[in-house]
Amino acid sequence: MKKLSEKISSIAPSATIEIADKARKMKAQGLDVISLSIGEPDFDTPAHITKACIEALECGKTHYEASQGLLELREAVSDKLKSENNIPAKATDIIIACGAKNSISEAMEACLNPGDEVIILDPSWVSYEPAVQMAGGISVHHSLNRDNFQADDTILEKISKNTKMIVFNSPSNPTGSVLNSDSLTLLKDVCEDNDIIALSDEIYEKLIYEKKHVSIASIGDMHERTITINGFSKAYAMTGWRLGYSHAPEEITKAMTKVQQHTISHPASFAMWGGVAALRGSQNCVLEMREEFDRRRKFLIGALNKIGYKTAPADGAFYAFLRVDGDDMKICSDWLENAHVATTPGTAFNAPGWVRISYAAGMDTLKEAVRRIENSG
Ligand SMILES: Cc1ncc(COP(=O)(O)O)c(C=O)c1O
Repeated sequence: MKKLSEKISSIAPSATIEIADKARKMKAQGLDVISLSIGEPDFDTPAHITKACIEALECGKTHYEASQGLLELREAVSDKLKSENNIPAKATDIIIACGAKNSISEAMEACLNPGDEVIILDPSWVSYEPAVQMAGGISVHHSLNRDNFQADDTILEKISKNTKMIVFNSPSNPTGSVLNSDSLTLLKDVCEDNDIIALSDEIYEKLIYEKKHVSIASIGDMHERTITINGFSKAYAMTGWRLGYSHAPEEITKAMTKVQQHTISHPASFAMWGGVAALRGSQNCVLEMREEFDRRRKFLIGALNKIGYKTAPADGAFYAFLRVDGDDMKICSDWLENAHVATTPGTAFNAPGWVRISYAAGMDTLKEAVRRIENSG
């Protein structure tokens, strides 16, 4: 066989999925493994959302839709972005894709030329760098301040004439921290002064506990150079539905639409009706899930601090990010092999010396995990 794509062979497989697979294999062998390595709410999709999808199927909503996605859903997203996020979002500048991950890839494909640099703020979610690579761009990593996980002007050292985009995620996977207004203002100034596109991944927006979410696209004229990414997976426990969306300036949306037209066409028509029910229906389900995550957050952070681990500010998402002494890869591997607790090494997120623990698991499971970690020394 002739040599396969060099572009793809240089991309690392997803570290989070690899660890989850290893934990799954150990479970299949009959071992009592606790999996705290994956970023998936442990709740079922709320019933009114599932019902809307079933009704859509029964009413024959099984045909092609507009390639930017169902108009009713784009209108619901537009209303949400206007009323909750203060972004002047037109339905024509919104694309519904197969998950936020798909929206991010489309954004990269649409914006990047070979040699364009994309600054990724670390610790960073595992799929940003591969998305840049697959689109032919070059990733430039820049670390947030490791004490408070905020941005500072050391980012200026990473700007070059080739910088096209800055990617950030608040609340953050993996740290759980939230960018404050100083960080957002700094990022706004850096983007505006250097003609850079901001890609703001806001997928954990609804899981923020004491602070308030601010979309960078709502600050001044930033909506003119921001691609806002969001979706349904985390807020509405809809990971398997594969439903996400982007809002971007018209020129970028047009380019992203071409990518969508020639790849996925659009997400499943009936799934998009579920998305309409999620956004237009009661938001009590979101509040209930958030309350439960908050209870677990308080327990887990408190328990980890008590046994001596320093943790990043856990303001949002459903992750505790803890400082470890020594090699995080080895520590995670030891915890899995010996304590049967699956976690994710910070190295997977460009943050060696840290470990991510997901609290998308029941309280009893978390208590047992902490007990095992403590006993493993
Ligand atoms: C930071 C971040 N962005 C995007 C995604 C992708 O979400 P989706 O399921 O909508 O593709 C995830 C999922 O883990 C995530 O953690």
